[in-house]
Amino acid sequence: MTYVLQNEWELAHERLRLLAEILDPDTYALLQSVGVQPGWSCLELGAGIGSVTRWLSKRVGSTGRVVALDLDIRWVDCAQFDHVCVVEKDVRELQSLEETFDLVYARNMLVHVPERVAVIQDIADALAPDGWLVVEEPDLATMEVTPTNGEDMQGPCAHVIAAIHHVMEQRGVSLRVSGELRDAMHEAGLHDITAEQRIMHIRGATGKARFFQLTYQQMRDAVLASGAVSEDAYDRFLRCFDDARFVLQAPTITSIRGRRRSSTQTR
Ligand SMILES: C[S@@+](CC[C@H](N)C(=O)[O-])C[C@H]1O[C@@H](n2cnc3c(N)ncnc32)[C@H](O)[C@@H]1O
Repeated sequence: MTYVLQNEWELAHERLRLLAEILDPDTYALLQSVGVQPGWSCLELGAGIGSVTRWLSKRVGSTGRVVALDLDIRWVDCAQFDHVCVVEKDVRELQSLEETFDLVYARNMLVHVPERVAVIQDIADALAPDGWLVVEEPDLATMEVTPTNGEDMQGPCAHVIAAIHHVMEQRGVSLRVSGELRDAMHEAGLHDITAEQRIMHIRGATGKARFFQLTYQQMRDAVLASGAVSEDAYDRFLRCFDDARFVLQAPTITSIRGRRRSSTQTR
């Protein structure tokens, strides 16, 4: 098991709910622009609390179908939809699904999977002709603390962030995943590939800041065990997220889309 932010943690649901609140509006606009329609068959990978699955299930309607896949499905809440199927499975075992989809969507998940390039090939194989793969993943390397009016925490925070990122890298997380995924989609034979990036600046003492605080709270033991940061320094970093003078430049989110060629198209 390499995944560091497991769903069994006692505050995982709050963390996943905040993540969905932060990202869902842009995701819905993105998927709308891809043209998800009634009757489509969709697969969401790493569904979390299932908010995107719920949106997709309303969009495709009862003539469509949505499969929500996650390593740990305890928080996927889609019981009210009979055209949604929830599957507890590791994305690295995607080959065994044996069906094809008009859309495969993944957010904040492939970044954690060391075998992400091979997984992109498996996803491409699971797309119907003309089917879309849409991913939204963070480049953690672009994250930084910007100066505030209060105590200058830039240096100490940068040190803690570097230690967190080191632990993540040891577990197979890529700090610059967007280029890897774009190239993997090209190598997998997808076409019409386009990418867009956005960066949020997150102010302390907000719901968005609480998401990041919970993320680093969940990683606390693993980072302290690495010996790179003292307990005191780590806890001061965590408390910054309660301070309205603190501003974090969040990881760059890259949305990448590409589609499988139709059966008559050649490369
Ligand atoms: C950071 S959460 C993102 C949840 C949701 N996609 C979102 O953006 O709101 C990552 C999710 O991916 C799942 N996950 C992580 N590694 C996985 C794997 N190898 N196979 C399937 N799911 C995985 C986790 O259980 C978790 O629910």
